[in-house]
Amino acid sequence: MKKKILITRKLLRSNEERASKLFDVKLNLNDEVYSQKKLVELSQGCDGILSSLTDKIDEKVINSLPASIKIISNFAVGFGNIDQEVARKRNIAVTNTPDVLTDATAEIAMLLILGACRRANEGIDYAKKENWKWSADFLIGKQLTGSRLGILGMGRIGRALAKIAKSFGMEIHYRNRSKLSPEMEDGATFHESIKSLFSVSDVLSICCPATKETKDIINKETLEYFPSGAIITNVARGDMIEDEAMVQALTNRKIYAIGLDVYKGEPKIHPGYLNQPSAFVLPHLGSATKKTRTNMADLAITNIDEFFKTGKSKNIIN
Ligand code: GLV
Repeated sequence: MKKKILITRKLLRSNEERASKLFDVKLNLNDEVYSQKKLVELSQGCDGILSSLTDKIDEKVINSLPASIKIISNFAVGFGNIDQEVARKRNIAVTNTPDVLTDATAEIAMLLILGACRRANEGIDYAKKENWKWSADFLIGKQLTGSRLGILGMGRIGRALAKIAKSFGMEIHYRNRSKLSPEMEDGATFHESIKSLFSVSDVLSICCPATKETKDIINKETLEYFPSGAIITNVARGDMIEDEAMVQALTNRKIYAIGLDVYKGEPKIHPGYLNQPSAFVLPHLGSATKKTRTNMADLAITNIDEFFKTGKSKNIIN
């Protein structure tokens, strides 16, 4: 008999078709963002859940799920939305979708750097209002060539970004839980502490996972470590930035500009960023290409299929 799977958000059609062939699926045709209560209700009678980053599957939700749920396959590489420890205690496997979104996300990371450094937000605004004229000092920004890029979290996305940024003439520095092998480092300089990394970062790109250790890692104190006029970008998760401190640093120009694709409490965005001309903001588009979203959902489906066929999946993270 086919396994019954709750798919919490609408997927691209080809993915829903494949899922429907493999499983008995409960689809979300209106793409409603389910409340925690509704998610628990809908999971009754199901064997697994294909979740999205918009589902907050915390301790309370996991402990309310029916015993029939054996896997939560997250349609994302990040899994900060799921309490993986509690899931493990309940014998529920949690999987994610690494690799397939690396390039698309690194592209957006580069766009954030370019947008913030070259004052794209202000430029778009002037252009749309047609109230500009070319002049030698109009919207002068910061050039990337020869500047130092600090990468916080040198995993797959961090390394893909390093490769792109090098072609822009940037010098790469990084902080990671462990130092990478020389081949993986590929000329980048490892830093033992965030203080050391931040102090050489003309531009910082946050590419690390959201964990207890990285929560609010950019805060009032650590912002002081940066060179004056640094640029900060975040393609990972909003949890890493203490927004009030960041907005303050933008206002007093300690930080020259910010490029953001992710936020605390999405889809809300701290109003301090929206009112700030030097903030280049995007609505969580990291993996948003047809190719990548198709491959991600495909992998999330394969993770479930493999798990029920073999009891394993190479993408189990708990
Ligand atoms: C997107 O943010 C992801 O984690 O896949």
